[in-house]
Amino acid sequence: MKSVTNVEYGLEKIFEGAQDFLPLLGTDYVEFYVGNAKQAAHYYKTAFGFQSFAYAGLETGLKDRTSYVIKQDKIKLVLTTALNSQSPISEHVKKHGDGVKVIALWVEDARKSWEETTKRGAKSFMEPTVEKDTHGQTVRSGIYAYGETVHIFVERKDYKGLFLPNFVAWESEYNPAPTGLKFIDHIVGNVGWGEMNTWVEWYEKVMGFVNFLSFDDKQIHTEYSALMSKVMSNGNGRIKFPINEPAKGKKRSQIEEYLDFYEGPGAQHLAVATDNIIETVKAMRNRGVEFLSAPPHAYYEEVPDRLGKHFSMFNQDLSELEKLGILIDADEEGYLLQIFTKPVEDRPTLFYEIIQRMGARGFGAGNFKALFESIEREQEKRGTL
Ligand code: FE2
Repeated sequence: MKSVTNVEYGLEKIFEGAQDFLPLLGTDYVEFYVGNAKQAAHYYKTAFGFQSFAYAGLETGLKDRTSYVIKQDKIKLVLTTALNSQSPISEHVKKHGDGVKVIALWVEDARKSWEETTKRGAKSFMEPTVEKDTHGQTVRSGIYAYGETVHIFVERKDYKGLFLPNFVAWESEYNPAPTGLKFIDHIVGNVGWGEMNTWVEWYEKVMGFVNFLSFDDKQIHTEYSALMSKVMSNGNGRIKFPINEPAKGKKRSQIEEYLDFYEGPGAQHLAVATDNIIETVKAMRNRGVEFLSAPPHAYYEEVPDRLGKHFSMFNQDLSELEKLGILIDADEEGYLLQIFTKPVEDRPTLFYEIIQRMGARGFGAGNFKALFESIEREQEKRGTL
């Protein structure tokens, strides 16, 4: 296996034990099925600073759906809504509310990706399909992952167009400034009771991923609730999927709350990287994005201890971090700054994480307790704890 350098993640080695039958070049796009794509796109443009990018709908020959593609740096989100009640998109929204349907992965060969994964037990969602327009052609194929979430493999080496065949440029006169979001760092899936290891094995066997970090309920718990998590990564470290399952606690954990309201497993949060979390979070707050409340002041007094040997390279404005409620954690290789939004729809399901990595490769394990206590304060208000 050849080593792939990935400057963005600071990952330069291929994980030992990862398989090379499914080389993944990166996340291609994330598609949401939503009740009203036009309004969702407006929200992500206004609040998150995404830019209008591509469009497909009645005007481009589609009969049953409309999709808006929005973009910020390397991140492409597709917001899709059904135009009739019989559409599977309508069924998805009826059951789950707005949520992630597709985590699309950019590959060299979508046919081989489909063959290798289905051969290893993946359930097919979409057989290899060639799509063409005047800019060339793409090949896409897809498999089911947890719940109704799917992975679509996108091969675009013979395509010069903007997004995918039969999408047109979406020109808008409304173009709010970006907020500094750069790329998707990881996407977390919530699965049901006792299902975490099933999905860990699925990612190992079907996708050739490795489990490179694990957290059990002894590490991730508060006075009231607990969860377990295992982080799966592909060989070059560009794709990271932590998988959570609920664990028994005195009260209902946030994972149970998610499973109840999403009515099954699904994507819990998208973590998006920034180079300047203070500026990004300030901008998003000003535009109406709601973040979880800050931990108590004592948390920030402990930061020098928490950073340990990395404190000397810590050049952040601690009072500003506290004012914004940004969390800080360190591991062997460096530190990271992170903050979580409240759910971005009325069901308490999908939310976002904003993350700035300063060498650390972890997921903020040192913040789990502070984070979950903050989520529990929100659950208390919703009466779902
Ligand atoms: Fe995360």
